[in-house]
Amino acid sequence: MNKLNIGLIGAGRMGAFHGETIAQRLPQANLYAVADPVPGAAKGLISQLDVNAKAYTDPMELIQDPCIDAVVIASPARTHASNVLAAIKQGKAVFCEKPMAVNLKEANEIVHASDESNILVQVGFNRRFEKGFYSAHTEIASGKIGTPQLMKSTTRDPKLNRAESIPEWTIFLETLIHDFDTLMYLNPGAKPVEVYAIADALIRPDLKDSGLLDTAVVTVKFDNGTIATAEANFQAVYGYDVRAEVFGSEGMITAGGIRESSMTRYNHNGVSFDTCRYDQDLLFDAYVGELRSFVDCVIHNKPSLATANDARYALKIALASIESVKSNLPIKLDQHVLI
Ligand SMILES: NC(=O)c1ccc[n+]([C@@H]2O[C@H](COP(=O)([O-])OP(=O)(O)OC[C@H]3O[C@@H](n4cnc5c(N)ncnc54)[C@H](O)[C@@H]3O)[C@@H](O)[C@H]2O)c1
Repeated sequence: MNKLNIGLIGAGRMGAFHGETIAQRLPQANLYAVADPVPGAAKGLISQLDVNAKAYTDPMELIQDPCIDAVVIASPARTHASNVLAAIKQGKAVFCEKPMAVNLKEANEIVHASDESNILVQVGFNRRFEKGFYSAHTEIASGKIGTPQLMKSTTRDPKLNRAESIPEWTIFLETLIHDFDTLMYLNPGAKPVEVYAIADALIRPDLKDSGLLDTAVVTVKFDNGTIATAEANFQAVYGYDVRAEVFGSEGMITAGGIRESSMTRYNHNGVSFDTCRYDQDLLFDAYVGELRSFVDCVIHNKPSLATANDARYALKIALASIESVKSNLPIKLDQHVLI
């Protein structure tokens, strides 16, 4: 069988990882082309990966290339939706890094276009492909902990870099979006109904007036009664920390962690272990697994495991969180306004 020809948009940190995965870790895929508007960036990645791929500076030209079967988008968040829509229009399956869109109008358009044309869209909710989170989902879905009552999802990044250039509301739209999806994933079938958020600039208080929020807690109430919290902070001095906990009527499930390996050190100072300092180390298998699943779904015509509709729900919670911070009030999701 012929390999799936993939066009990659965005040759930055995440694009380089996905490009390497497509070129080296997925036997059924071929990295056919890379597009990045920065002159030399696509060529640079192609030569770093030592592959025979085309380089574009215009993502639209890549999307329109007739030899490309599927598109992987790893460009900055605010460029995603238009490229997803263009790829669907060209009949090409799309893997899009999170967030799929930053407003509900675009998210609705993508869900509609993907449903109408039956074109597969997968969003980069990599925790769904992490072994522990996947097992947690399976256990909870099969009723092993009864009805979920309390949930927590945590993201703590190891270091706040380039704080001055972080776009407004990033903590909700780009970081906590993972946690909002995790809450949905670990509370299968339930719908979020009310959101209350509190956020601040505690790492860089000097940037608060310019719109930086580096720490946030969001409570989410679900229609099955579950009360959940999602929290994020951009600088955990001990490493990259991604965890979830679901407490139900028949027990509790936890997933995620911070360990670099299973090695534990016992010495004069006590007991210790090393931690991951980088998302691509902690979630390496999940990042590879999500693209492996994407390729498998496209080739075998299977449904996506992280859909455009999942991304729309996570976005609804993120947008409601923003409204809540602005108003300092709880926001009911069904009265949520489009922004
Ligand atoms: N799933 C995760 O946990 C995870 C982790 C990190 C980043 N991401 C996501 O990946 C995406 C990229 O993040 P990154 O860290 O690689 O950023 P980055 O800044 O390192 O790379 C972005 C690249 O996109 C290019 N670019 C800029 N404008 C573009 C446009 N209009 N069209 C195409 N390319 C354009 C830039 O030149 C750059 O090479 C973001 O959406 C981010 O949220 C996801």
